[in-house]
Amino acid sequence: FLYKEYLNSDEMPDADRVLIEEAVIAASGAYAPYSHFMVGAAILLDDGTVVRGANVENAAFPSGSCAEKTALSWSVSNCSGKRPVAIAIAALSGGRLTREPVPPCGNCRQMLVEEEHRQGKPIKVILAGKEKILVIESAESLMPLRFTKSHLG
Ligand code: THU
Repeated sequence: FLYKEYLNSDEMPDADRVLIEEAVIAASGAYAPYSHFMVGAAILLDDGTVVRGANVENAAFPSGSCAEKTALSWSVSNCSGKRPVAIAIAALSGGRLTREPVPPCGNCRQMLVEEEHRQGKPIKVILAGKEKILVIESAESLMPLRFTKSHLG
C-alpha cells in the first residue's frame, strides 16, 4: 500500500506536525509500569478539537488499553457529531521518542477502520518516530480482509 515517508517533521504540513506534538504530550500521560513503553495518540476532529489518549496498563495484563483505543473510545463517547480526520501516534521509550515509528496493533487497526467506515471518510494515520514519520492516507489500508459488521449477518 502507499504511504508517505518523512525524515523529519519540518517537511510536513503544520497541522500534521502539531498533531504529532499532541501525540508526544499524550504519551507522557501513559500509565505503563509494566512495559515502560509510553504510547500517545492524538485524534484531530473535523471541528479542530484534538483528543488525546495514552496506554493504560494493568496488573492483569490483558485488561490494559492501547493509546489509540483510549483516544478513540474517548472521542466516540464524548464527541458524537464530530468526525475524526487524523490520528497521530508516538511512543516514548526511556523517556525519549522512539527512533522508528510505532504502528498500531491489530485491535486498534480494527477499531480505527470501523470508525472510518461509520463516518464514511478517511482517517489519516500519522506514525511518528524521531528519524522517520509515516503518513497513511486511510486507516483502511492498514487492515485488508478485516472483519466487519456485514460478517455478523
Ligand atoms: N501499545 C499501544 O498503546 N499502542 C500500540 O499500538 C501498540 C502497543 C501499548 C500497549 C502496552 O501498554 C505497551 O504499548 C507495550 O505493548
